[in-house]
Amino acid sequence: MGCAVVWPARRLRGQTTLPGDKSISHRYAILAALAEGTSRLEHFSQCMDCQSTLQCLAGLGIAIEQTGETVALSGRGLHGLREPQQPLDAGNSGTTLRLLAGVLAGQAFTSVLTGDASLRRRPMGRIVTPLRQMGAHIEASPGDVAPLRIRGGNLTGIDYRLPVASAQVKSCLLLAGLFARGTTRIVEPVRTRDHTERALRHFGVPVTNGEGLAITGGQALRPVRLHIPGDLSSALFLVGAALLLPDSELQLRDVGLNPTRTAALAWFVQAGARIEIRACSESEPEPRGDLVVRAGRLRGGRITGAQVAAMIDELPLLAALGPYTEEGIEIRDATELRVKESDRIEAMADNLRRMGARVEVYPDGLAVGGRQPLRGAHVDSRGDHRIAMACAVAALGARGETAIEGAECVAVSFPGFFETLEQLAER
Ligand code: S3P
Repeated sequence: MGCAVVWPARRLRGQTTLPGDKSISHRYAILAALAEGTSRLEHFSQCMDCQSTLQCLAGLGIAIEQTGETVALSGRGLHGLREPQQPLDAGNSGTTLRLLAGVLAGQAFTSVLTGDASLRRRPMGRIVTPLRQMGAHIEASPGDVAPLRIRGGNLTGIDYRLPVASAQVKSCLLLAGLFARGTTRIVEPVRTRDHTERALRHFGVPVTNGEGLAITGGQALRPVRLHIPGDLSSALFLVGAALLLPDSELQLRDVGLNPTRTAALAWFVQAGARIEIRACSESEPEPRGDLVVRAGRLRGGRITGAQVAAMIDELPLLAALGPYTEEGIEIRDATELRVKESDRIEAMADNLRRMGARVEVYPDGLAVGGRQPLRGAHVDSRGDHRIAMACAVAALGARGETAIEGAECVAVSFPGFFETLEQLAER
């Protein structure tokens, strides 16, 4: 694809479903590999990140059958993974690399985990330090980055307070805890998405939540069957687009509504958006429902503290909506944005400026003034899927066309994003 061109739209109208949730797909594939028997995952995300997870699991000796969006994985039990013959390539996916590192720390063999240039720049000290404390032998590349060479086995549970709010780090340690002697206890600085805890329970392994999370090692996993809900983080790009185009009305069906993922929805509503949740079901293990979105005025506001972790993947989108709000959007306490697939603070500031917006950049965030007319421009995704999609949303309300460099990266989380947008857009 190279460059994608996005033209302004008058409104978004219609209904659609979303690809299966990426975070949930990763976790169920990994736990299915460790279960005793075959698990069947329907509406499994077809995104590149989740395909990376499946490929790594295949490299560990797991038989995987994919038919359309259904994936059947033949689990080999906690101790059935095979020593990989080659480095395991997580591609662009931090979730694949960090979660699998937890599993591999528990294996009595040597494996190498690597990824693309972006992933090889991202911080891995946050998992290497606690995994070493549990007893794993890990060699990281200089600067505590991937590739990681892991010789695992013989782990002991630890009590660990996470220095950064990260669901990936928490999940890595819960997975390592499955293989550890005794109990692993984890305290998070603020609450992050809890899909791993829910998934472990669904596979039959209790995770208790008192002072912190606790998991006891050595417990067998039973296989599961699950229809994965649509990805709320992907849905929110469409929600954002509908909110900025007057007279839009959009229905998004069967979207995941796990309360640890809905902070951005709640933020939109308190900022003036008209969003209705319909047919919501508390179905186990993950709640889901339909969203109906109507264009409305967005006041804007500040996003700080615990809100940042709860909305971490939506922050580029919120920055993109900033110029369309009445008061602008300021995001602070968000240094984590600098170590995502790209430096998302610099990437959004640069692209919004190219579109004519005034943007203040801070070490820990950015402020985008409200009521700023945007003009179409040549913008750069920097190979980061969420930057490409955030720019596409901003472009819908701009004057003139926008060319997004490296737009094919949207397939990392949302294959078909541009086609879906095109189907819903009216000009
Ligand atoms: C994810 C956790 C978050 C998020 C990422 C997916 C997960 O990363 O940004 O897109 O599935 O656990 P961090 O744990 O690094 O915050």
